[in-house]
Amino acid sequence: MAMCPRIELNNGISMPALGFGTFAIPSTQAAEAVRTALMTGYRLIDTAASYNNETEVGQGILRSGIAREDLFVTTKLRIADFGYDEALRAFDTSIGKLGLDYLDLYLLHWPVPTEFEQTLAAYEAAEKLLADGHVRAIGVSNFNARHLDALLARSHVVPAVNQIELNPLFSQRALRDANALHGIVTESWSPIGGEKNVSRVLQNAHIVELATKHKKTAVQIVLRWHLQQGLVVIPRSINPKHIAGNFDVFDFELSSTDMAAINALNVDERGGPDPETFDLATYNALVATRAKEVENAAPSDSGSANPVPRVHA
Ligand SMILES: NC(=O)c1ccc[n+]([C@@H]2O[C@H](COP(=O)([O-])OP(=O)(O)OC[C@H]3O[C@@H](n4cnc5c(N)ncnc54)[C@H](OP(=O)(O)O)[C@@H]3O)[C@@H](O)[C@H]2O)c1
Repeated sequence: MAMCPRIELNNGISMPALGFGTFAIPSTQAAEAVRTALMTGYRLIDTAASYNNETEVGQGILRSGIAREDLFVTTKLRIADFGYDEALRAFDTSIGKLGLDYLDLYLLHWPVPTEFEQTLAAYEAAEKLLADGHVRAIGVSNFNARHLDALLARSHVVPAVNQIELNPLFSQRALRDANALHGIVTESWSPIGGEKNVSRVLQNAHIVELATKHKKTAVQIVLRWHLQQGLVVIPRSINPKHIAGNFDVFDFELSSTDMAAINALNVDERGGPDPETFDLATYNALVATRAKEVENAAPSDSGSANPVPRVHA
């Protein structure tokens, strides 16, 4: 299998262009999924405090036996922990759960536009963690252009990465341009559509046609589309066949006509929350909804297989 390319960040370090997402992977399955991904060749692992699986992600990393310096591990600060002291404490908790002594990339999970001072204080804490060598790079997630401008006006370190929802139905051209203008790498979450739109993306006739043409799967076509635009991409799966197939994307190329056909699929439609209105109430509502979903999905005789709600925040 060909090597995964790396993308250079604005502080001179580099990260793998393709990584493994862990949102909503039940704690009972997370360690094995991460170990499988690492044995397949993935070296970038993306998690978050709010996914409630940092401990299991850490166990998967440990079980893989792969040297720490060969890995690139990202986690994210929950908005519930925004504020300077709160953020520093939350970082210690995350890194303790992961079983690591440093992190490669620490992201603010969402901006909170209605409490932007708290967002700024959290970012200041991330700057401190960077200065003290606890993290190799810091960044943000779900920041729109105006959130970036407001952050840049009041901070010292330009974020290395902005991780945003991005897939063929929601291609975020303007925000990618804003990121690039500031030297910020764009990382795509829900890159194949996420829970809401995965079937819509993978069953799209144009994508299926390209898959047939290139003798690849629809997911592989979509992942190539991300990679060929210089995006970092972090598909998630608990299926070993999917995990392997999603990493087997370095031996073919989409033409500019193929790329244009996928670009034309954009309908500016989000699957996740809108960063403009994100706040603690939205977060708490998501936790409640997610908890109900988990309860409904739980096997009746053995309790929930996935007892802790995981949310996008
Ligand atoms: N910063 C943020 O706010 C934020 C928000 C959401 C997500 N994220 C990050 O981005 C990562 C990816 O996003 P996501 O998890 O929302 O969605 P995604 O990776 O776009 O889609 C995951 C879905 O695709 C399916 N899938 C994966 N590979 C497949 C294949 N080869 N064939 C068919 N189906 C396939 C998975 O099912 P199977 O398990 O059955 O394969 C799963 O249902 C997350 O895991 C997380 O790390 C960040």
